[in-house]
Amino acid sequence: SVTITTPAKAEVAVIGGSGLYKLFDSSLSTTHEIDTPYGTVQVTIGERADRTVAFLPRHGTGHSEAPHLINYRANIWALASVGVRAIISSAAVGGVSPEYPPGMLVVTDQFIDRTTGRADTFFDQGSVQHLAAADPFDPTLRRIAIEALTALGEDFAPTGTVVVIQGPRFSTRAESTWFRSIGAHIVNMTQYPEVVLAAELNMGTVNLSFVTDADAGLAPLETAEAVSASLVFHRLRTAQPRILTAIDAILRGLPENFEPRELVASAEVSAALAR
Ligand code: ADE
Repeated sequence: SVTITTPAKAEVAVIGGSGLYKLFDSSLSTTHEIDTPYGTVQVTIGERADRTVAFLPRHGTGHSEAPHLINYRANIWALASVGVRAIISSAAVGGVSPEYPPGMLVVTDQFIDRTTGRADTFFDQGSVQHLAAADPFDPTLRRIAIEALTALGEDFAPTGTVVVIQGPRFSTRAESTWFRSIGAHIVNMTQYPEVVLAAELNMGTVNLSFVTDADAGLAPLETAEAVSASLVFHRLRTAQPRILTAIDAILRGLPENFEPRELVASAEVSAALAR
């Protein structure tokens, strides 16, 4: 059920990727309608791993939003407006490098943007900002996640470059071969522009990707079995308990009053949020 109230504050958010549409026992959470200059967004605030957490399923609760049509600015604005400073973003990805086989978790550290036409800044009126994007994911949050996954004994890669494609279709074998050759390890449709929009509002992001498939099926990952949507969703269902355990461990490792990097002067962020 949806209630419209003044939202509770939450310092940390989980953005649910494909397959992660619910984070709380419903008795422990409230869903709020948050108005933003870009549209209204539903954010559920509840308790998980002894924290107050804001949860936003990126594709909507019923996977109704296609990756290229997601209202990224509204989503990120809504999280900022409830006080979020740290975002744990989960994602399903394909593996394009042999070092990133299906079944692995990845704490992504770099992206290559192959999307087109997505609104990817809050600073297109008023002041101009040129975001420093050399390390787009928050280094402190990445360290916390790496420590948490190590303590869990997880099979994970502590770094990884994601190539973000426009979607909604998957890649050809030629595209996948090219992505491998330019140094991408994994492929996804949503990490851009989400992480840079969060950074523009001085929120830190750590991405937890789960490799569901071997993309176009390049050897030696999974010769011949190319990705399909049903394969992705099937593997995600199986991996869900593991992904939630990892998210909980990261939540437990996050200090109270976490302060992300200030990438944009806070006065500029406040002015943008006041629009
Ligand atoms: N999400 C999960 N697997 C993917 C793939 N192979 N390409 C793009 N997005 C994905």
